[in-house]
Amino acid sequence: MKVDNYRFQLRDKEYVPIIIGGMGVNISTTELALSAEKLGGIGHISDAEVCYVCDQILSTSYTTKKRKKYSYNAGNRDKSDLYFDLEDVAEAQKKYVEHTVSQKSGNGAIFMNCMEKLTMRDSASTLKARLAAAMDAGIDGLTLAAGLNIRTLDLIKDHPRFKDVNIGIIISSLRALTIFLKRAIKLDRLPDYIIVEGPLAGGHLGFAPDDWQNYDLQSIVAEVIAYLKKEELQIPVIAAGGIFTGTDAATFIASGAAGVQVATRFTIARESGLPDKVKQEYLNAEQQDIVVNTVSPTGYPMRMLRNSPTLRYTAKPNCEGLGYLLDNSGKCGYINAYYEALEAKVDNKPMTIKGQTCLCSGMANYDCWTCGDTTYRLKETTVKQPEGTWYLPSAEEIFLDYQFSTDGKIAKPCPPGVG
Ligand SMILES: Cc1cc2nc3c(=O)[nH]c(=O)nc-3n(C[C@H](O)[C@H](O)[C@H](O)COP(=O)(O)O)c2cc1C
Repeated sequence: MKVDNYRFQLRDKEYVPIIIGGMGVNISTTELALSAEKLGGIGHISDAEVCYVCDQILSTSYTTKKRKKYSYNAGNRDKSDLYFDLEDVAEAQKKYVEHTVSQKSGNGAIFMNCMEKLTMRDSASTLKARLAAAMDAGIDGLTLAAGLNIRTLDLIKDHPRFKDVNIGIIISSLRALTIFLKRAIKLDRLPDYIIVEGPLAGGHLGFAPDDWQNYDLQSIVAEVIAYLKKEELQIPVIAAGGIFTGTDAATFIASGAAGVQVATRFTIARESGLPDKVKQEYLNAEQQDIVVNTVSPTGYPMRMLRNSPTLRYTAKPNCEGLGYLLDNSGKCGYINAYYEALEAKVDNKPMTIKGQTCLCSGMANYDCWTCGDTTYRLKETTVKQPEGTWYLPSAEEIFLDYQFSTDGKIAKPCPPGVG
């Protein structure tokens, strides 16, 4: 039983049923997404902090421009003035997507992971600008994530590509799916695919922090498939979260999923955006180093390595330049936590901020080491080099291992000059 025995049919196209999930901020890089596309699968880029990402890879200066515009506010606890320039958001998104899709070379596709919880001081307008610009720039698919996305389809219903772009939704429960579908049916725009993300995934989780252990991906996928069958809705279901080997993936597909979305194995790929030093942290992690906590100001639990530098952040909120998590009244949990800690600070004692982190800076600086539950197994997937560091496989090696491996085996990469 192997993944290569199957193909994922989406509208009139067939793909290798392996999707590399979106990993913000720029962990699922253009290069990582393109490696899946080249091999006939689907790769995601993410639009998390897109202005900042565009500045990093395309030498634009949206972040500096915004920081300069609002520099007068830097010492102010009230961040309600800090709106994003919607034209800049759209332009950055367009440049980033064009940069990626213009390099397509295979038969696969490039999708974009778009998170509703990235509220950017004006959630509806900024999400609309990002989705519309991605479609304008030729994205093959939009994966709606991090939120119920009840009103998201309404935001783009007048876009010329509304019916032709692939639209998918990530859900972690049947209840979340039915809420989304209610509106989708009203708009006569069913999703083209549904990603069921279970409790072992990386990034934010769609479960309560204290009960994710009570759920398992197999049961949720089966429940969703049975529901769609009962409702006579033919929408492919993709399983995500904790699928570590090609055999794990093939097992899901054999039992009714149309494909799998995977991410953790690719965090250590050479094409992943994490700095090499951080990739070694992932590879060295043990099971007890992986925690689910509630420090994200989004309000969702998040899985990360417990030695993530972001957990020790005491930096002043950087919303004048970033500010991607400001809600519609200009608030973010970290701002409160920071100013409360500042007020409570005793002279000469270091400040500690409990319970919240500045996720914008943490993710932008690769200091928030979010990861899937199976991260501690990454060492099974590669080899240690004579000087003591782990060899980093290419995304192609990992993708082909998922596609062709059998019997739970993992093909380790062969470093140059070995074997
Ligand atoms: C480092 C990392 C960052 C992630 N970031 C995001 C994200 O920005 N948005 C999102 O919807 N999912 C995110 N995810 C979830 C993945 O896209 C994917 O669905 C999930 O992790 C698959 O499970 P696996 O990592 O066990 O293979 C992230 C996962 C990882 C490992």
